[in-house]
Amino acid sequence: MTQQLAARHQVEVGLGDRSYTVHIGPGVRALLPAAVARLGARRAVVVSARPAHWLPELGVETLRIDAQDGEVNKTLATVAELTGAFARFGLTRDDVIVSCGGGTTTDMVGLAASLYHRGTPVIHLPTSLLAQVDASIGGKTGVNLPEGKNLVGAYWQPAEVLCDTDFLDTLPEAERINGYGELARCHFIGAPDLHALDLVDQIATSVALKASVVTRDERDQGLRHILNYGHTLGHALELATDFRLRHGESVAIGTVYAGLLAAALGRVDAARAQEHRTVVASYGLPVTLPEGVGHDTLLRYMRRDKKAGAGLAFVLDGPAGAELVRDVPETVVLDTLAAMPVGG
Ligand code: GLY
Repeated sequence: MTQQLAARHQVEVGLGDRSYTVHIGPGVRALLPAAVARLGARRAVVVSARPAHWLPELGVETLRIDAQDGEVNKTLATVAELTGAFARFGLTRDDVIVSCGGGTTTDMVGLAASLYHRGTPVIHLPTSLLAQVDASIGGKTGVNLPEGKNLVGAYWQPAEVLCDTDFLDTLPEAERINGYGELARCHFIGAPDLHALDLVDQIATSVALKASVVTRDERDQGLRHILNYGHTLGHALELATDFRLRHGESVAIGTVYAGLLAAALGRVDAARAQEHRTVVASYGLPVTLPEGVGHDTLLRYMRRDKKAGAGLAFVLDGPAGAELVRDVPETVVLDTLAAMPVGG
């Protein structure tokens, strides 16, 4: 790896003076020292779920903090620990925080960066497919509460994102398939046929789609809701299974459900609903509800969804494409849950 390495893809997230570049391709973590230098930082804190040898020297005084990927570590308590360590190290808001890990790490470190000194630059190095295609892009940071997923957070755009696809070579197969969950839902929110592309191009396509949405609706006022395709049931499934079902797997099942729900509401025909199942299955993802999860439990969690307002809300396909549909009748939601196959 050399400092002259060029990323295979560069996607710009255009947000005025908060614009940034997402570099995608093998070896792009070598661009990290240059990214730190561009910020003019004198110190850096690297919060990393990967061993030190994965990252280059930054060329500035660096504190390294080990992180652990996983939803159970994505808490306000972890954010408090991190920010305390930043303060003891003497980090200022002219310095930089680097997050290296899966989506739970980039979400949690991103929130710590947004809060520390009311906002300190952060560079993300997502190491999971899920984080490279979605979580590390777009500035949503957050942690979970016992009451729900991502209920506390902030918008804090990174200064740069380095999606080094070499990280993916060491991913367990289950984690790679998990990442496909966010790719599968792209088929229904405007992506071209991802099956025709190799993995690096698939990541770049997902990032470009996300960038085009985020630049038009950074604060989730409307259009950005489409990125949460399959997520209403997906988040509920994660919580109802104590995260035994991973995020991408849960979104995959939620995507199949979204197809059925759209058909039940007369928004799409049965063939389009079946297409949801076919696409999700083509990635090796689950298409059935897990056994032993009560529909009332799912309903309770779905009511707490941030998009929900007073009623139940889902992003659903329809004649005008995917859009947020509010106040979906509870009976239709429950009947469609009952129509989902279970287990297997
Ligand atoms: N992951 C959905 C969003 O960033 O809006």
